[in-house]
Amino acid sequence: MIDRRSFLGSAAACIAIPNAGHSASNLLRAAPGTQQIAPDRFDPTDLWVFDGAMPGRSLRARQGDRLSITVENALPDPTSVHWHGLRIDNAMDGVPGLTQEAIAPGDRFDYDFALPDAGTYWYHSHAQSVQQVERGLYGPLIVEEAEGAPDIDQDLTLMLDDIRLTETAQVSDDFGNFHDNSHAGRFGNVWLVNGQMEPKYAVQRGQRLRLRLISAANARVFQLGLSGMSGHLVALDGMPLSEPALIQDTFSLAPAQRADLIVDVTTDEAEAFLISFERDGGYAMASFPVSGAKQALRPPPAALPANPDFPIDLKSARTATLLMEGGAMGGMRSARLNGTQLDIRDLAQRGKFWAFNGTVGDMKAYGRDTPLIDVAQGESVRIGLANDTAFAHAMHLHGMHFSEVLADGSLGPLRDTLLMQRGETREIAFNAHNPGDWLFHCHILGHHASGMGTWLRVT
Ligand code: C2O
Ligand code: CU
Repeated sequence: MIDRRSFLGSAAACIAIPNAGHSASNLLRAAPGTQQIAPDRFDPTDLWVFDGAMPGRSLRARQGDRLSITVENALPDPTSVHWHGLRIDNAMDGVPGLTQEAIAPGDRFDYDFALPDAGTYWYHSHAQSVQQVERGLYGPLIVEEAEGAPDIDQDLTLMLDDIRLTETAQVSDDFGNFHDNSHAGRFGNVWLVNGQMEPKYAVQRGQRLRLRLISAANARVFQLGLSGMSGHLVALDGMPLSEPALIQDTFSLAPAQRADLIVDVTTDEAEAFLISFERDGGYAMASFPVSGAKQALRPPPAALPANPDFPIDLKSARTATLLMEGGAMGGMRSARLNGTQLDIRDLAQRGKFWAFNGTVGDMKAYGRDTPLIDVAQGESVRIGLANDTAFAHAMHLHGMHFSEVLADGSLGPLRDTLLMQRGETREIAFNAHNPGDWLFHCHILGHHASGMGTWLRVT
């Protein structure tokens, strides 16, 4: 059932990416680099990376700490760093045109912020992200629980990606082409975990693992499953679930989403697997060679300790709606771009294919156009989202987590990125506890670049 063939050949490149947590230096350098991604008979792949590797250095800190990171831009293009999922000080959010100027080549920017929440987060370039994230400018950011950390034997961060390589194992430079941007986004042809094809992580039979899954993919929604390990989902997008949820089947991980699992190695076989059902009907993205004797089953894990709560009051909430339109096979005829109404043909010529509420999101316009909603700090907000397009979208709110308002009126788990299938209408709600101008956009990076972005203001 598990097909381990890969696009470029069968032998996985066995390189060790130092990904163990330490943040000794507070300089993070964005620069060109190379990495052996494809099997050894291919050349190393030219990338853009943080601190020499893709993923970049795993930043690890403890809940309640501050993180001070100076980003140095040694790239040929401007960049910025967004600390995805952190309920961060707005000035540190890393969005060029909204919260800072992009960092010019040769310049530095000092990021310094508090870490109120424990959980699994990540950092990535937020400038020309279709290109910069694809080239490798991303890394994990792990905030350990101040207290009440779960009892586990191994804590593994698995950063998933799919990269589009050419026949010579170089990153295909057709970034943001009109076909990708107007359809489902940029899909890769080589599947990576922590920057490697089919890496292996040694485990012991009976061990309890915390798997921190992070999707750094441009566009692909992974359909994941486990073989030889069983357990529970304990957090989504960094935020603990109030009750661990038994993993019974496959689960999806959209671009930018995270899932924390606590699983036990239960197999009698020699290997366990992380499988993606997006490919070949079941592809082992990573494997876990198993040793040791069979162990007794353990009781299920307890819930992770909750992060600070900002209660949502649905009754008094301010409301907004977001109509998502455009794209190939969509019905959009025209939309407003920087104050001018343009028909779909003129928009397409400018590389714009999508709109929210009739307005094409554009980096240059953020902060000048009117926000989706303008609320006072501490107010509750409800946003109804209608996906009137032929594609799925992964809607990400910066600065605050939201809950989905479920059909029975209850609130779903806290998230920062919501996968909206084509044609779906859903509603989210949040407590606007964090002041600032916050981006709200599709994390399918080509969709954002070609119009799927807006912002909201909390004062
Ligand atoms: Cu990870 Cu604006 O995004
Ligand atoms: Cu989208």
